Amino acid sequence: VEMGSSVEQNILVTGGAGFIGTHTVVQLLKEGFKVSIIDNLDNSVIEAVDRVRELVGPDLSNKLEFNLGDLRNKGDIEKLFSKQRFDAVIHFAGLKAVGESVGNPRRYFDNNLVGTINLYEAMAKYHCKMMVFSSSATVYGQPEKIPCVEDFELKAMNPYGRTKLFLEEIARDIHAAEPEWRIVLLRYFNPVGAHESGRIGEDPKGIPNNLMPYIQQVAVGRLPELNVYGHDYPTEDGSAVRDYIHVMDLADGHIAALRKLFADPKIGCTAYNLGTGRGTSVLEMVAAFEKASGKKIPIKLCPRRAGDATAVYASTERAEKELGWKAKYGVDEMCRDQWNWANNNPWGYQKKL
Ligand code: NAD
Ligand code: WQD
Repeated sequence: VEMGSSVEQNILVTGGAGFIGTHTVVQLLKEGFKVSIIDNLDNSVIEAVDRVRELVGPDLSNKLEFNLGDLRNKGDIEKLFSKQRFDAVIHFAGLKAVGESVGNPRRYFDNNLVGTINLYEAMAKYHCKMMVFSSSATVYGQPEKIPCVEDFELKAMNPYGRTKLFLEEIARDIHAAEPEWRIVLLRYFNPVGAHESGRIGEDPKGIPNNLMPYIQQVAVGRLPELNVYGHDYPTEDGSAVRDYIHVMDLADGHIAALRKLFADPKIGCTAYNLGTGRGTSVLEMVAAFEKASGKKIPIKLCPRRAGDATAVYASTERAEKELGWKAKYGVDEMCRDQWNWANNNPWGYQKKL
């Protein structure tokens, strides 16, 4: 038996019923971890967790526990930590709609900041001091240079972004005060796609804010056309450029981060970009989706969306070198799997009559 592999490691996954959470939980179970989810189902449904169980099968499903709970409620967290020992926490739970955060900043600060501070308190009390945190490329603001490198100056553009920036700073302060903490801050670029089975995927409530869920709903006939925000950017085709990353690559990035936490006592508090390092424009993304789906996506060229950057993509060097992780999938696979999910579940997890 190899060192460290003899005992099954137990991972707490906050927000594990959500888009990135469900895909990561599937991979965690397949890699032999025990998983406990806490989620308040604010932006997700229990059917997503049922689908995770179905995907991994009954044996691995026995290693998964779901707890309905809210991180803003200290009692919910205490209940979890008092009955089992966690080796590490992957912290996805949070609100993420940029536009909503502008109109309702208190909700974002309460949920994202208070929830996370409560989580740290419980982790400290129960001596679980390893965390993988969901940060975001949003902390680069309007980057002055691309690709974005982890040591760039950070800047938030809206209340949502501010919660991520503050939570990164809080993590760095906690580590500075108590160096035994090991915290990995993962800065996701633009997560898209779905599990290749087409059984789990992103299912936003209401009209989607993000590009791929919007395209997907046009493809299945739920929305008439895609508004393309900006066609006069100084880019090749005039539309804005982003670094889209397949959610299964992202899920594997979390496994790599966990292994790094367990293996490297000197990790401290370190940020890593999770992106492909490649930029794709909105119009290129539409073309790739049309090719993957065989569906025409009608578009309307519209003015730029307030607060949007021209071009953002990741430097992937640090994650490659230190985590040994690199994205495997390109835009064609992202669109293929996004379409497979859409085509099999045009109404997401709902059973539309
Ligand atoms: P998601 O909304 O699908 O998942 C988040 C989950 O957290 C949901 O299931 C929600 O019900 C739960 N949750 C929210 N507040 C909670 C609370 N107080 N207590 C318990 N559960 C709570 O979002 P996602 O796309 O899977 O994102 C996961 C994380 O990654 C978030 O922190 C998000 O900010 C971050 N992130 C997402 C993206 C993206 O584009 N999807 C990009 C960068 C960073
Ligand atoms: C991508 C491109 C739009 C919708 C957001 C958050 C960021 C991170 C990821 C959480 C842009 C264009 C979009 C549409 C369009 N999330 N677009 N028509 O803005 O890069 O990043 O999600 O941390 O913080 O800001 O992603 O998918 O919204 O937009 O033309 O209907 O698609 O203008 O150029 P974005 P997005």
